[in-house]
Amino acid sequence: MVGIIKTGIPGLDTVFEKKGFISNSSVLVSGEPGAGKTILALEFIYYGAKEYKEPGIFVSSEQSVEKIRELAFVLNMPLEQYEKNGLITIKKVNIAKGGEMLPDQILNEIKSKKPKRVVLDSITPFELLAADQRDFRLKLLSMLEEINRQGVTLLATGEKKLTDFDRISFNAEDFLFDGLILMGRQRKTVNYQRVLSIIKMRGTKHSEELHPVEITENGLRVLTIK
Ligand SMILES: Nc1ncnc2c1ncn2[C@@H]1O[C@H](COP(=O)(O)OP(=O)(O)O)[C@@H](O)[C@H]1O
Ligand SMILES: [Mg+2]
Repeated sequence: MVGIIKTGIPGLDTVFEKKGFISNSSVLVSGEPGAGKTILALEFIYYGAKEYKEPGIFVSSEQSVEKIRELAFVLNMPLEQYEKNGLITIKKVNIAKGGEMLPDQILNEIKSKKPKRVVLDSITPFELLAADQRDFRLKLLSMLEEINRQGVTLLATGEKKLTDFDRISFNAEDFLFDGLILMGRQRKTVNYQRVLSIIKMRGTKHSEELHPVEITENGLRVLTIK
């Protein structure tokens, strides 16, 4: 029987028939800037610790550890107690040209802390610094293999330029992950509505709807229109 990792993200688990991610799978959350990818990734780690006592590591390639803590704090997800008791670890990965997505220092952290959940936010800077697309994909593949060996469930984020939900253009990396979640915005007369859609999730059926996403001072929640 396959194990399930409940994301704990408000409104998300019920969109999957198995009510969560499949354990040891890799999920890419892809979308435009400001869609809510970092916040969703943070909630995956926060609720994992808070609701399920599952250790998680949040690896940021874009924001400093301090910035991530601040973001969590203003969204009512204080991380301090979980960082103190070791359930949550936040790390900044420095992307140098030719650098690995999971350098030894981070990999050693994963090996010693044995988290259930790992976030990599985001893979895009590695793409920008890679010699070419082939180099980027090889790095991505080696990262995904390593994550798989460590038996953790990975949520990675990545930027996508076009998230017009009627004509999505897929990148090569979209095919390398077990799951793909798209986040973006849709115009609703005079304003925009954030939306999320599950494109694929190996091992479980899932909703085929566009789900509105709400971000407030209490974080992000996924809505289902009945
Ligand atoms: N306290 C808040 N209340 C409402 N919306 C917020 C709050 N904090 C951030 N946001 C929204 O979240 C967006 C950033 O989300 P983020 O997860 O960083 O996006 P992404 O990682 O997809 O670029 C901001 O552009 C802002 O609109
Ligand atoms: Mg982000």
